[in-house]
Parts: sequence; structure tokens; C-alpha cells
Amino acid sequence: MSDFPILDGKRLLLVISGGIAAYKSLVLIRRLREQGAAVRVILTEAGARFVTPLSVAALSEDKVYQELFSLTDESEMGHIRLSRAADLVVVAPATADLLAKMAAGLADDLASTALLATDKPVLVAPAMNGAMWEHPATQTNIGILTGRGVRRIGPNAGELACGETGTGRMAEPEEILAAIAAFFDDVALGSGPLPLSGRRALVTSGPTVEPIDPVRYITNRSSGRQGHAIARALARLGAQTILVSGPTAEPDPPGVQMIRIETAMQMLAACQGSLPADIAVCAAAVADWRVKGVAGQKLKKDKDGTPLLELVENPDILATLSRPGSTRPALVVGFAAETQHILEHASSKLARKGCDWIVANDVGTGTATFGGDRNTVHILRATPGGEASVEDWPELSKVSVGERLAVAIAEHFAAAGPRP
Ligand code: CTP
Repeated sequence: MSDFPILDGKRLLLVISGGIAAYKSLVLIRRLREQGAAVRVILTEAGARFVTPLSVAALSEDKVYQELFSLTDESEMGHIRLSRAADLVVVAPATADLLAKMAAGLADDLASTALLATDKPVLVAPAMNGAMWEHPATQTNIGILTGRGVRRIGPNAGELACGETGTGRMAEPEEILAAIAAFFDDVALGSGPLPLSGRRALVTSGPTVEPIDPVRYITNRSSGRQGHAIARALARLGAQTILVSGPTAEPDPPGVQMIRIETAMQMLAACQGSLPADIAVCAAAVADWRVKGVAGQKLKKDKDGTPLLELVENPDILATLSRPGSTRPALVVGFAAETQHILEHASSKLARKGCDWIVANDVGTGTATFGGDRNTVHILRATPGGEASVEDWPELSKVSVGERLAVAIAEHFAAAGPRP
């Protein structure tokens, strides 16, 4: 789970309409509250059949608004004021019915009235049966709403509550959270040219998976959280970003081109195929070795006995990208995961791999960096004199490390002057 410092203090109006996915909105409320956002909820009549007002009130720590003509609601806060006392209105789940009402401008209950009356940006997270989503009526409604500037996250493809498979699953709470944060990032960045626009960035993330036979493999505990956060942050600053990633549970960062791979050899090929790039950040935990002579059939205990695995070293992707040549990115950044003598090991890694910067982190026992949410890093920069300069960053969430690194990269390019 990621942290989004930008959400601290933001005010959200969340409309929960009637779909089975409404339970996910309870998780969304909790996650938003954890980030320091205030969440006020309008629960439709159908929504209240899926989640109770009591759960919503407890999680949002606020009153739940349900009735258009409730005297108490009107005396405490009119529906017009309710619709405007927010920085962003989020509709999750957004049913086909509510989307149709929004597109047509109907206002026959509190949710639709607030959505018609609001002067604030709106983000919808549609959720419905696949046939309903694909129906021309829904697609036309979505087109109308998009044309009016309504933002959308999802729906995703997969198994639906009705038992069918198709596109219609509401985006996961974590994806909606990221989309809300992306909206506020956009607002914070303003409409001027972004600092990394016109630059191409390549990021590696996650573990690699090295097969033993068709069903067994060797891998590591990398979550991909840090690499994904960096890709997201570079894209937010305007870089055209490609993320080459091993299997992870992380959502795809918005606005980033994904290349999914499994093995180190595939990661290398994908990286080389993505050049030229101005920036390369190698955050992946690439398996140092692969199995020599991967068995074509499943190894059998009775036939093969206890196998003795022979390993061969994988190519070093960071070192390969750092090699001088016409396609070498102008800035190559590597990571050094160390358990002791962090700066010493990281600076020798900087020299050995030939990259420009190393983000050194302590992954020793007790730090919970691997697989965790937080990271304490040191930025080592190669200098002409040979001695690396070191900058210590405080303990930050991986999202914040990604944002700060992207800003440092943008500053580096700004200092280097315009493109040749
Ligand atoms: N890396 C890579 N390809 C490899 C191995 C590592 O691109 N085959 C990159 C990682 O993405 C990271 C950096 O190299 O940016 C450092 O990885 P790390 O595992 O810490 O270092 P190693 O080179 O494996 O050195 P050691 O095992 O001695 O610590």
C-alpha cells in the first residue's frame, strides 16, 4: 500500500451508489482517512442496501448524507453547499444508472442533485456487468461525461459479481486512491510545461523470475513498490516513461507504458529495445543467477531424484545500460540494497557499474524496506574527481522517495541546460 502525502488535508465528497462494489468504497474511505483527507459521503438508497450508513459514518468519522428532502440535512447543510464544500467529488461505485443520470442531467435524489449542482471536478469509478458497460447507451454516456471533463478510473476486466467475466469490475481502492492523488498532483503542477516533458525515461521494477522447470522457479521478495513509484513520479513530471517490470501486485502507474517480463534476460532485451532514453532508473531486484539448462518437462522426484541446480550469472542490466556508447542514457541511476557498510559498498557499486547516481538503501534485518512501505536512502552521485558526493534523505514513504527522486532528476536536467 502506498502513501500519498498530497492527500493530506484535502476534502472529498464521495458518492456511493448501489453496486456490490460499494464494499470496496469502505476500504477507500479508510485509506483516504489514513492519508489525512476529509471524506464526506452521500449514500444513495440503493447504495445503502450494500453498505450500512453506520459503517460509512464510523469510517468517515462524519455524518452520512442520504435524503434530498431531509430537514436536518437541509438545516445543517443544503445540498448545493454539500456539493461544493469539497475539492473533488468521487463517485464510487458509479452504476450505469447514475452515469446515465449524470449524462442526462437528471436530479431526482440527493446524489444526482449534488452531482448536477457541483462546481467541483468529478472522478467516476464505474462498476457494472460487462454487457451493461459495453452497451452503446453507457458508452455514449461515458463519452458525454468525459467530454465535460469528468475523470474516470476503471472499470477493470476480470470476474464480475454476477459470475460473468468481462470489463465492469470497479477499480481497486488502491487504484482509485492513486487516481485521486494524481488529480491533486495535476492541480499542484499547474498547466505550464512540465519539467521533464520531452524526456524519455526507462525504469525497471520488481523481481525477476527464473524458471527451473515449467512449474518451478527462483525469485525474490521485491514488491516493485519503489520502482513503480519512481515511474509514476517521472511520468507526472512529464517524462514519457516506460516501466519494465517483473511480476508484482502493484497497480500500473497512470500514464506509464508497461512492459511485463519474467526473466532477467527478458528484462535486458526489453530495456535495450526501449532505448534511446534520456533517463534510466534500475530499481528492479534482478536475480543474479538463472538456472542452467531449464528442464522442458516438470522434474519428477522418482525419475530425476534430488536435482542439483547449476546456476549461471545473469547479465547486469544496470552495467549494460551504463556502458559508454551512442545509446547510453544521459543519466543512469542504480540502486544498492545493502545490509552493512552501506556508503562504502554503494560507492564501489557506483564505480563498478559505471552509472551516474546510486540510491543506496539499508535492507538489513529490522528495516522492513524489502516488501515494506518506507525507505531511508542516500543519494550518491559520481563526481569528476572520482569521490562520490552523498546526500542523506530522511525516512520517507516509497512514494515520496519516488517523487523526490523525480524532482532531483528534473533539477539535474534543468542544471545541465537545454537539450543538445
Ligand atoms: N542490477 C541489474 N542487473 C543485475 C543485477 C543488478 O540491473 N543483474 C541492478 C539493480 O537494479 C540495482 C543495482 O544493479 O540498480 C544493484 O543491485 P544489487 O543487487 O544491490 O547489487 P549487485 O550487483 O547484485 O551486487 P551485490 O550482490 O554484490 O550486492
